[in-house]
Amino acid sequence: TKDIIILGIETSCDETAAAVIRNGTEILSNVVASQIESHKRFGGVVPEIASRHHVEEVTIVLEEALKKADLTIKDIDAIAVTEGPGLVGALLIGVNAAKAVAFAHGIPLIGVHHIAGHIYANRLMAEMKFPLLSLVVSGGHTELVYMKEHGIFDVIGETRDDAAGEAYDKVARTLGLPYPGGPHIDRLAHEGETTIDLPRAWLEEGSYDFSFSGLKSAVINTLHNAEQRGEEIKAMDLAASFQASVVEVLVTKTIRAVEEYGVKQVLLAGGVAANKGLRYALTQAFDQIKDVELIIPPLHLCTDNAAMIGAAGTVLFEKNRFAGYDLNANPGLEL
Ligand code: KG4
Ligand code: ZN
Repeated sequence: TKDIIILGIETSCDETAAAVIRNGTEILSNVVASQIESHKRFGGVVPEIASRHHVEEVTIVLEEALKKADLTIKDIDAIAVTEGPGLVGALLIGVNAAKAVAFAHGIPLIGVHHIAGHIYANRLMAEMKFPLLSLVVSGGHTELVYMKEHGIFDVIGETRDDAAGEAYDKVARTLGLPYPGGPHIDRLAHEGETTIDLPRAWLEEGSYDFSFSGLKSAVINTLHNAEQRGEEIKAMDLAASFQASVVEVLVTKTIRAVEEYGVKQVLLAGGVAANKGLRYALTQAFDQIKDVELIIPPLHLCTDNAAMIGAAGTVLFEKNRFAGYDLNANPGLEL
């Protein structure tokens, strides 16, 4: 059978990315232009600046992705692009670039959900075995997703307020750390000790939902109270205690869902999947659980990239789920 070659495009937030994927599993090229430096001094992603960067970068990363794959646009079977969720102006740049190239060359177009992309980053590492559970932890999302087959997503739990990455970034900002704060907290946490008592939001019994805003407020209050009393709190201990709370809730709920749903595999996904504490705790926990395979992608496939969009797009290609030229950015797209 003939290979399926998909060109993936991702511009939903602050990385402009393009990649070429063979048969949904093999990376031929994976180009990411990060804008982090431009947003740093504002302490977060500025949507208008993100859009402008995407405009400048998108054709460059597209050409580079083809060149690195040693292919031309004629070799591409379909163009898969993130249609949502994300920043509308940022998404529009990728969607319109994809439409323009698809129209100009008569190539089929596929719209991909950003979170489906994060989950399918795992397919670039290992064969997916169903039923499976994916723990999606990113800057915008915290979800437990059950999948009984390719392309069908059942969200069994999600955050009711802040996403895990959002909580990391806000706590980091309170500690005066640069954006994005997740990696800085992660690093500090390894130097500190979990000496500060912080809450764990378990929610109602049996719920797979998450909540991180109470924890975030508890960290901020702890810091302010100490300041008022003239006491010193070590940032690294606060980071360690915060990370312990996030990781404990994520790991405990994931294991409970694994048992209830009887899955064969667990896939970690999203930017916070780069967290060393979380990777370690999950690995430890699943060493004890027989017959369940844990997949954790390498760091560069956890944060935003287009390889994952190409991988998720390949499944839609196989299901003949193509988009028309009316494909639009959809910032609130449901999985
Ligand atoms: O998936 P992603 O690249 O973008 C979204 O789709 O949101 O995730 C970005 C998030 C940011 O909040 C960032 O702070 C967080 O992932 N992050 C981390 C780590 N590396 C990135 N959070 C905790 N520990 C890390 N090592
Ligand atoms: Zn993402």
